[in-house]
Amino acid sequence: MNKPADLPIGVTADAPALQPQVGVSRAHEAAHLHVSGEAVYIDDIAEAHGTLHAALGLSPIAHGTLVSIDVEQLRRQPGVVAVLTAADIPGENNCGPLVHDDPILADGELRYVGQPVYAVIATDRELARRAAAMAKQFIVATPLPAVLTAREAHAIGQCVIPPMHLARGDAAAAIAAAPHRLDGEWAVGGQEQFYLEGQISYALPQENQALLIHCSTQHPSEMQQLVAHALGWQSHQVTVQCRRMGGGFGGKESQSALFACVAAIAAQRLRRPVKLRIDRDDDFLVTGRRHGFDYRWSVGFDPEGRILGAEIDLISNCGHSADLSAPVMARALCHFDNAYWLPNVSMHGYGAKTHTQSNTAFRGFGGPQGALAIEMILDGIARRIGLDPLLVRQRNFYREGQDVTPYGQRVEDNLIGPLTDRLIETSGYHARRAEIAAFNATSPVLKRGLALTPVKFGISFNVVHLNQAGALVHVYTDGSVLVNHGGTEMGQGLNTKVAQVVAHELGVPVSQVRASATDTSKVANTSATAASTGSDLNGKAAQDAARKIRQRLAPLAARLLGGAEDALVFDGGEVRAGARAVGFKELVAKAYLERIQLWSDGFYATPGLHWDRAKLQGNPFFYYAFGAAVAEVLVDTLTGETRVLRADVLHDVGQSLNPALDIGQVEGAFVQGQGWLTSEELVWHPQTGLLLTHAPSTYKIPTANDMPRDFRVALYDAPNAADSIHRSKAVGEPPLLLPFSVLLAIKDAVAACGPQRCDPPLRAPATPEAVLDAVDAVRA
Ligand code: MTE
Ligand code: HPA
Ligand code: MOS
Repeated sequence: MNKPADLPIGVTADAPALQPQVGVSRAHEAAHLHVSGEAVYIDDIAEAHGTLHAALGLSPIAHGTLVSIDVEQLRRQPGVVAVLTAADIPGENNCGPLVHDDPILADGELRYVGQPVYAVIATDRELARRAAAMAKQFIVATPLPAVLTAREAHAIGQCVIPPMHLARGDAAAAIAAAPHRLDGEWAVGGQEQFYLEGQISYALPQENQALLIHCSTQHPSEMQQLVAHALGWQSHQVTVQCRRMGGGFGGKESQSALFACVAAIAAQRLRRPVKLRIDRDDDFLVTGRRHGFDYRWSVGFDPEGRILGAEIDLISNCGHSADLSAPVMARALCHFDNAYWLPNVSMHGYGAKTHTQSNTAFRGFGGPQGALAIEMILDGIARRIGLDPLLVRQRNFYREGQDVTPYGQRVEDNLIGPLTDRLIETSGYHARRAEIAAFNATSPVLKRGLALTPVKFGISFNVVHLNQAGALVHVYTDGSVLVNHGGTEMGQGLNTKVAQVVAHELGVPVSQVRASATDTSKVANTSATAASTGSDLNGKAAQDAARKIRQRLAPLAARLLGGAEDALVFDGGEVRAGARAVGFKELVAKAYLERIQLWSDGFYATPGLHWDRAKLQGNPFFYYAFGAAVAEVLVDTLTGETRVLRADVLHDVGQSLNPALDIGQVEGAFVQGQGWLTSEELVWHPQTGLLLTHAPSTYKIPTANDMPRDFRVALYDAPNAADSIHRSKAVGEPPLLLPFSVLLAIKDAVAACGPQRCDPPLRAPATPEAVLDAVDAVRA
């Protein structure tokens, strides 16, 4: 064991304190670029010489038969180079992810106002848009009756997916035998993702029949596959790249495909680079969003408010095609239980087909729509028996011996009880409940309301095979590290977390690690960055890759330092064996000379998952994430305006990889969910089927002014019992369910306007109109 003379081996008296790379707050790796405007989004990429611009001609009617498109007239418009219709698609005319029922361009049938019918390719974007806007003039169609609401579609059995049933025990018998019964009907609206960067794709022809596509997408591999199918090509001819998205929120999980396909088909046909960037109004009109749900329920309960039996129909508005509606409904059914033990339950999910945009993934993916129903039911039960809804919730919590979900998975490591107890303490819930009652007793116009709602959210894709990921880690001879993984960055901080994991594994500062753009030519066959699994999956894959490199470096380091391989410490940019240390950079340079492989792939597949899709039974989730929130609101009963005075959140992210990012995710999800339930309202014209709320002027997302005035977010700091990446938990979606507390606090305030034990018929979103209607109802 000779120490080579050319390597500086340091000797320290004491082992220095470890420099942690995970579990510490770090700024988002591109934060400085976001705020300075240097971060490159697709429209910022310097345009290649000869770039053409596409725009979409949209269906002016909700339903009809397409008779003709006056392509000749369109082609004569200024600047127009080509007009593409369904007939110009060389391969399959489909951009649907699961069921192939989603035409890229309309073929024969028009299915909703806003459906892309043709694409105009012109020398500049404005000219393309001008020709595209002539759709009304140049599309000839025979109108057919349109079905615009899910209720109507469901009533005539019009659906995009087969019904789904999930049951345990005998719900009907339990309800019939129960001392009390509650029947109800309710609905919650959809929600627009409103990513700040709209849908965009830029396709560039490459040599020898190939395309490079820059696409703002959560799912580069699926874009690659759908483009290949549309062109009748092999996948290896298509490369899809995504440096980052300006937000996705589920809206770019599947629905980025239409734009990738149109840009690709045009680029291939014209052998020119083609960019398709649609504006906000068209984005609203063309793409779908969160599914609105209609519910009908019957529940039976005991005098203490414990649910004995529950039956529920969930009808989702899927729009004109299946898209991801089946897994969305499956997740809704698997989240109706939320945090509660339902001994006898019978759920029926129906995916209604309407002549509207095709609804898709949105943060929570059906989970919020499922769980919101049981929260409304419990609130209704509590009001009828005159108990604090919190008490009724606690009585129904999953507990020892009553901890198996309707789909057969045990709720292990259940934090809901202790987490809620702590939040009740820290938020001063009971004292404030009394204070609010006193305030309301003397305040006839302004009413305050309070609610605590819990969250249990299952983590994993509910399609088992999607739970896999790959990564590549390259260590260069100067000791710097490049990581590439299958996940995409949409603002959530995935690249930062993955870089932290790699930095930890190799014991280098995170500043020495860079994450490169997601690229289908690097890691193949990736899953969407979705289901909140980005860091769980890609973090593990990158850890695997980095670990392999460390293991290859270890024998050399042990030889150089004189120690056992398993006693080596990789930390702070050096490798130590007891008191002796060598710089990571020096070690790597030496390893290169010794012809040791300094890059590696990594792979991860979540263990222990099984799921019977037909029976809706199994273990679909690796673990659950928990949380709870207390919201306090002020309602002006003359105007219907509401304000969130204070929100206290306690949310479980396991052992956080990066507390700053996680708190940011919790805050963002909370306010986004609050928007869904209070201000974001979608309105389609009841005759024409045009989405009337297709711009920020009419569709109101929350702003900084709508944030809770006093917003206290804390992380419940307990390591994940499941062997997740550094014992962290996924954070992206679960906190979207926390602001159920806001809706129910508004309902609580409205209840203060009516007689004892009234149950206000509050709609969601609880817009000022909805609040006034509910106030009128309880006062009447
Ligand atoms: N955060 C930001 N800033 N932007 C986004 O688009 N999408 C959400 C969530 N947080 C989103 C976000 C959704 S829908 C999901 S599924 C997760 O992030 C995906 O990323 P992750 O799996 O890495 O958490
Ligand atoms: N979330 C997001 N996307 C998905 C899921 C899910 O649970 N299942 C299939 N695609
Ligand atoms: Mo998120 S809805 O799973 O993209």
